[in-house]
Amino acid sequence: MQGKFITVEGIEGVGKTTNMEFIHQHLLASGKDVVVTREPGGTPLGEAIRRLLLDPQYKGMNPDCELQLMFAARAEHLAKVVRPAIEAGRWVLCDRFTDATYAYQGGGRGLDTGKIAALEQLVQGTFRPDLTLLLDVPVEVGLARAGNRSAPDRFEQEKVEFFERVRQSYLDMARKHDGRYRVIDAGQPLAQVQKQLAVAMGTFMQASDATD
Ligand code: TMP
Repeated sequence: MQGKFITVEGIEGVGKTTNMEFIHQHLLASGKDVVVTREPGGTPLGEAIRRLLLDPQYKGMNPDCELQLMFAARAEHLAKVVRPAIEAGRWVLCDRFTDATYAYQGGGRGLDTGKIAALEQLVQGTFRPDLTLLLDVPVEVGLARAGNRSAPDRFEQEKVEFFERVRQSYLDMARKHDGRYRVIDAGQPLAQVQKQLAVAMGTFMQASDATD
């Protein structure tokens, strides 16, 4: 039996780290064998590519270069971590995946989505997440939370309008792919956010148990 692929998405400051940990614990408590990973990254080579992508010294990186580095890291990650785990029946919980490329490189940078779709096809074929949890907050709330952290990386240095486009692009995808997306109102108190996550995962696990 194949495992499942769950991705977590959202702009900066939505509480991804805290909620990833909650989701992980919830899956473990439900008896799932879970691999937690992230993009860009998740492999030694992918983490090296991540450092290039986030390094503020490459401010102004060509958007096509950025796009291809994202997919280069993704190809390695899929081959070495994600696909082998799923084929072995494990559940993979991934902090961001290709929807982040549509949101940041497509929405944020304004790259043609046809270009992204072509690379998606090349690197993934028909492989897609089974469930995507979108943690959503208004941009000013997210940026205020993220702003309290350490030195901003190359993406965190972007302007409010960039993140408005990223957020809008995520919300558009959530409407378009409403079968696999669950939008979580992450502006609520943490206990309420985690209640929403528990309901979304409960429904997903019930449906996947029924079809396996
Ligand atoms: P993180 O710090 O939330 O893990 O993500 C690193 C940054 O990379 C974040 O600002 C979003 C960005 N990103 C993209 O622009 N495109 C992508 O495909 C992915 C996976 C991340």
